[in-house]
Formats: sequence, structure tokens, C-alpha cells
Amino acid sequence: MTESSRILITGHNGYLGSVMVPLLQRSGYEVTGLDTGYFRACTLGVDNTGVPEITKDVRAIEPSDLRGYDAVIHLAALSNDPIGNLNADWTRQINAEGTLRLAEMAKAAGIRRFLFSSSCIMYGMSEAAVVDETAPLAPQTEYARSKVVAEEALRALADDGFSPVYCRNGTVYGLSPRMRFDTVLNNFMGSAFTRGRVEVHSDGTPWRPVVHVQDVARYFKLMLEAPLQDIHNEAFNMGVESLNLQVREIAEVAAEAVPGAELIMVPQPGADQRTYKADFSKFSRTFPDFEFQWTARRGAQELYEAFRSIALRYEDFTDKRFTRLRWLGHLIEAGKLDDELRWRTPQLCIA
Ligand SMILES: NC(=O)c1ccc[n+]([C@@H]2O[C@H](COP(=O)([O-])OP(=O)(O)OC[C@H]3O[C@@H](n4cnc5c(N)ncnc54)[C@H](O)[C@@H]3O)[C@@H](O)[C@H]2O)c1
Repeated sequence: MTESSRILITGHNGYLGSVMVPLLQRSGYEVTGLDTGYFRACTLGVDNTGVPEITKDVRAIEPSDLRGYDAVIHLAALSNDPIGNLNADWTRQINAEGTLRLAEMAKAAGIRRFLFSSSCIMYGMSEAAVVDETAPLAPQTEYARSKVVAEEALRALADDGFSPVYCRNGTVYGLSPRMRFDTVLNNFMGSAFTRGRVEVHSDGTPWRPVVHVQDVARYFKLMLEAPLQDIHNEAFNMGVESLNLQVREIAEVAAEAVPGAELIMVPQPGADQRTYKADFSKFSRTFPDFEFQWTARRGAQELYEAFRSIALRYEDFTDKRFTRLRWLGHLIEAGKLDDELRWRTPQLCIA
């Protein structure tokens, strides 16, 4: 794949996409975005991402939308566990069936390389010390199940002319123009900065692989450039061992990054005990030269400085624009999205 390759990136208006697009553009790729624009209005700071784009729901794409690309990066999804609890159908239709539809059209259009943004969350509550890519999948939520089903559907399409790769991300953190405060380190940092406290509502023992959004963008670029035989129909846990942290450690990193912030443990019965310690050796074996540039500590420092520069307030941190589930709920209540999570009128997608 050459640097002049034409890339279609779905979900480009989201938290990851808004960081990935500029990185790919700077690297010489010709990038087109495809997104329904649920979170277009949800910017923190300035979004300078300018990119040709198709405003469309992945459930409504047509073969002509896939013409003229060398690779697809598929990020578009309802990306949050609780959204699946709100309405399982939406998560299944968008994340699983939408992926299959997109992949079938990509394959029919002769696009060989298909990068799927998957998740380590599909390992569920594994009691095993570490889970590698061969570990049994035990998805605990509709969101996690949708990623399993999507991977299975892609696997069934893989052949000499179609090479999907399953990028199983940890929990992503770090600064993005389409910020999310509903992921663990971002949430702890927002709380540390605006409330002077980080609260852990569990015993803090569950493991979470965390990864910085800039490193995510960099390894997707790596996947665009990797020899096809190295990635064809392969799943990778994306990360390094040092990125496996327990929730308590993540909270400590956040509390230490903000002068004066305190860490408060609030163990609760029935707290979120999802735990997964990922084995990243397949990734490092396959890509020995790739270096993760961000530690949780460095990322927390970056967030602290960014929050200071925009004087982040508690009202910003808790604003519905930065919690995926609450923002979608708002769009539904305001009558902008219908009961299938489609825009009632196309122009409202600039909500
Ligand atoms: N953020 C994380 O911690 C994390 C971890 C593991 C995997 N992932 C995966 O990475 C991808 C991107 O995550 P993110 O954090 O950027 O999420 P996000 O919610 O910020 O962005 C998702 C984007 O997809 C778009 N989208 C959703 N449904 C759509 C539809 N029906 N049609 C067209 N566009 C649609 C949204 O408008 C949004 O711009 C997702 O597939 C997610 O499951 C994210």
C-alpha cells in the first residue's frame, strides 16, 4: 500500500476518528469520512478536521459509496456498553449487521484491506491471568456481543480477495476534538480536575488495558501499511503489557496528575467487575518495531495541561455532549432521532 492510497474511514466524526483522520492526512493518505454525525456537535475545543465526507448511516450505505478506495477503516459503531442495554437492537443492527453490510459492499467493490475496530471487552470476565487472541470469548454486554458477531461475519467473508483484520483495542484515553468523558482514564481526569477528587466505585481490582488515542491512530496506520500476509483475517490485542492496569492504578495516575486531587475508594456491591488482562505478545511479535509512545502517566499529564488551557469546568466535564449514551438520549428526547436511531430529517444531523 502506498502513501497515496485512498482510504474510506467510517465513524470519522467520533472520538478516535477525529484524531486518526489528521494523522492519516499528514501521512499523505487521501481520506474520505463516512458518518451519520451523531456527535458532530460534541466538540471540546476546536475541531480542525477537514475531510471530504459522506453523511450517511452505515445501515443505509450503497455499493456506490464504496467505489474508488484502496482500504476501509471501520470505526462507526455505538461505542458504549450501556447503549446496548438501552436498546439491544440498535447495537446489533449498527455494530454487527452494519459491519457485515459495509464489508460485503467493500469486498464486492474489490477493496481488499478492511480494518475493523474491535475491542478486548469481548473477553468478558475472564478469570484467566491473561487473555490472548485464542482465549474463549465471553461477551457480557450487547456491545461486546456485537463485536464478536461482527468479527465472525467478517471472518466468513475473508478470502484471497478480502483481508479483514480485527484490531482489539483496550479502553482508549487521551485528548480528542470529539472528547469522551465516559471512558475510564478520561473520566477520572475530568473528575480530578473539576472536582479535586477521583472516585472509584468498585474495589479497584479489575484490569483494564488502556491505550492512548494517538497510539491507536498510529497502529491503524501501521495496519494500512503492513504486508497483507501478516494481518489477513487476524485478530490482534493492540497494546503492550505495561498498558494493563488495574482500575485503582488508573485512578492513582489521574489523582497524581492533578495537584491536590484525592483518591476516594467507594466499594459498591454489584459494581462493574468486568476484568480482562490482555496478552499483547502476538502484536509485538508481528510488529517488533512499533513503539507505543504514550504511558497512562504521560497521557494524564497531557489532559491536565489541556484542561488548564481551556479552563475545563465541572459543567463541561458532566455535559451530555461528552457521554455517548446521554447525548443520544438527548437527541431522541428532542425528537431529532427516531426510534430506530435514524435522523428524522437529514439536515438535523448538524444538531
Ligand atoms: N473509545 C474506546 O475506548 C474504544 C475501545 C475499543 C473499541 N472502540 C471502537 O472504536 C470505534 C470508535 O470508537 P469511538 O470511541 O471513536 O466512538 P465514538 O462514539 O466517539 O464514535 C463513533 C462514530 O461512529 C458514528 N456512528 C455510530 N453509528 C453510526 C451509524 N449507524 N452510521 C454511521 N455512523 C455511525 C458516530 O456518529 C460517531 O461519530 C468503535 O467501533 C468502538 O466500538 C473504542
